[in-house]
Amino acid sequence: MAMQTIPVDPFDLTIFGATGDLATRKILPGLFRRMRAGQMPKEARIIGAARTEMTRDDFRALVKTSICTACNPENVQKSDLKRFLNQIDYLKLDVFADTDWHRLKPMLRKDVVHAFYFSVGPGLFGRIARCLKEHNLAGDDARIVVEKPFGRDLASAKQLNTDLRSYFHERQIYRIDHYLGKETVQNLMAIRFANSLFEPLWNSHHIDHVQITVAESLSVEGRGTYYDKSGAMRDMVQNHMMQLLCLTAMEPPSKFEADAVRDEKLKVIRALEPVSTDDVVRGQYLGSGAQDDYKSHAENPNTVTESYVALRADISNWRWAGVPFYLRTGKRLRDRVSEIVVVFKHAPHSIFGFGAARGGRNVLTIRLQPDEGITLRVTIKDPGPGGMRLREVPLDMSFAEALSAEVDGMPDAYERLIMDVIRGNQTLFMRGDEVEAAWAWVDPLIDVWAADTKLPQSYDAGSQGPEDALHLLARDGRRWRRIGGDS
Ligand code: BG6
Repeated sequence: MAMQTIPVDPFDLTIFGATGDLATRKILPGLFRRMRAGQMPKEARIIGAARTEMTRDDFRALVKTSICTACNPENVQKSDLKRFLNQIDYLKLDVFADTDWHRLKPMLRKDVVHAFYFSVGPGLFGRIARCLKEHNLAGDDARIVVEKPFGRDLASAKQLNTDLRSYFHERQIYRIDHYLGKETVQNLMAIRFANSLFEPLWNSHHIDHVQITVAESLSVEGRGTYYDKSGAMRDMVQNHMMQLLCLTAMEPPSKFEADAVRDEKLKVIRALEPVSTDDVVRGQYLGSGAQDDYKSHAENPNTVTESYVALRADISNWRWAGVPFYLRTGKRLRDRVSEIVVVFKHAPHSIFGFGAARGGRNVLTIRLQPDEGITLRVTIKDPGPGGMRLREVPLDMSFAEALSAEVDGMPDAYERLIMDVIRGNQTLFMRGDEVEAAWAWVDPLIDVWAADTKLPQSYDAGSQGPEDALHLLARDGRRWRRIGGDS
């Protein structure tokens, strides 16, 4: 069955920072794939804007190279590429030069959707927003798209919100968290709210605890300067991990609509208890074998920035009181695994008596990447005679196997999100109050660390993470699912 694609309305998409890493690695190849899938109409136009002095043809050559790098060359037909490049224009634009802004106006058409993608550092968000308004380039229907990091603490996020809202309404602001664009993250909502099986059990009566893991095997790969000022808490926990926590824990929204969904996520963040320092572990990896240690990526050889965080989050509401959510994320761990593990309580009473073993707990694992799918661990009878012995087996479903015909063409997170911007659908974007609430929750921990002279706990590259993270669960009588396969 072919995937359904509904073409969006004709648009002018201006990308600020169009020669940068994000634009060339994700945004432009993503748009190419949407064009190839028939979703980007032939009347759509992309205007690359950047400080570099270059002609339109130079820029098109750059886009061509980035598409050939990002997409499987076998799938890049010359005719598609030609058509796509014809829809691309370039403007040399220094955001501090008024004369450059004047040259953007004649490039924008009337009667099409106008979107402006700020693929630049947050330091330029306010300036670009102001210039778009002052130069009369963006009307009340225009959309602006901003990337993370959205601030580095509550105060700076508030300031960014104020800056953007001085020129644009909240309904025009699309704050990207690319995790929300991932197919399997959206699947989390489908699993919870499109099946009657799980929701009645999705609460403290039946669930013992939840583990959310985003483990990476790579390190900071050329982004050391940015990352070292950020660390895992700002880079991953405040945004991606928080979104996964919210989608796992939120109440069912009345509709799959932007504010209905975002209201429910916000309630979860606001119900989070402050995290005590005993409930959080920060780590920094040491090299092992051929792998360098974290410090080699940082300018400061004595850096105390964390490349790993594990913490216990508690949500104070009726649904989740007493159910810990354990979160962990880190660089250079054993494997690349993102998953949500929901561990159910034991059956209340074993009827099988002595020698049968009690039976394990049901465990639902939602694998976000790689090998997207779900596994439900259930207890069955061990086959053969010799009494009633029990054992655990997985009911496993891999989306790639089950949906092989369609999965090949699954859109990347950015493709999906950019098309949502053009459609004017904010459901998978963060609202300003949500971002602020998330900062308000992580800020106290970051402040404690900033004043702390203790080093993060070290862990070996390629390992499961710091020892203390294991104790975080062990002291509660629980254990993490092993990264790279359970024992
Ligand atoms: C980014 C972080 O937002 O997400 C990176 O800045 C991280 O440090 C990346 O590696 C992870 O995204 P994904 O899609 O590869 O899981």
